[in-house]
Amino acid sequence: MQKREQRKPMVAGNWKMNASREAAQALITAIQQGATAFTAIDIAIFPSFVHLPLAEHLLKNTAIAWGAQNMYLGTAGAFTGEVSGAMLVDYGCQYVLIGHSERRALFHEDLTMVAAKLKAALEAKLKPILCLGETLAEREANQTENVIGMQLQSAIDAVGIHAFNQIVVAYEPVWAIGTGLTATPEQAQSVHAFIRKIFAQHDVVVANSMRILYGGSVKADNATGLFGMADIDGALVGGASLDAKSFLAICQAAEQTEIAME
Ligand code: 13P
Repeated sequence: MQKREQRKPMVAGNWKMNASREAAQALITAIQQGATAFTAIDIAIFPSFVHLPLAEHLLKNTAIAWGAQNMYLGTAGAFTGEVSGAMLVDYGCQYVLIGHSERRALFHEDLTMVAAKLKAALEAKLKPILCLGETLAEREANQTENVIGMQLQSAIDAVGIHAFNQIVVAYEPVWAIGTGLTATPEQAQSVHAFIRKIFAQHDVVVANSMRILYGGSVKADNATGLFGMADIDGALVGGASLDAKSFLAICQAAEQTEIAME
């Protein structure tokens, strides 16, 4: 199948505001040890800021990447409580989540702020994972494509289409996050295909090589169905990424799907 010729699947774990220092150490160690068997996928974890030095210590020179869940604009300055992209790079981060729906909803990050952060992440030489998604009310009002289209357009306007060579997109329907309600593989595929179509209107090469992850209650038992879809290139996992066994089982599903398609 030609599906992922140019797209290596990725499984990313967003830990959100979870894990003690001790739990983080145990989880990173278990993931690192369990993941050595995987060669066909990229794996990245996103612990809280305070655990990033631990991630760097335990994952340096391994195949697992780490990143932050958020960042602020600029490199340094009087922004109490914020962390810059340059600081993340200093701790070995390759990636940063930008525009997660919890940041948009709980911390009032609007389209302008998300676009500015995307730009700042690229300037810091981080690879952003840009999160997009509609709420249940928006889906029920048939606004899914409008909402995703607007979120995408403001990002493309801010950084230009070619910057997306460095960006991973994550489609995370808000109604599926932490609710146990996963989008069906067909529902997710339909939005992923829509996202890729929008990119293709700008640049077909960028569209075909860009990874689009699905997020929202991904678990070991629904991962294979999702990964089998033509435009789903991996997962951004929340709750299940806090348990090494569950997270590794999702990685295993991605690895197996990829090998079966080669
Ligand atoms: P859950 O997997 O817990 O639904 O979270 C998804 C998510 O928000 C990942 O960024």
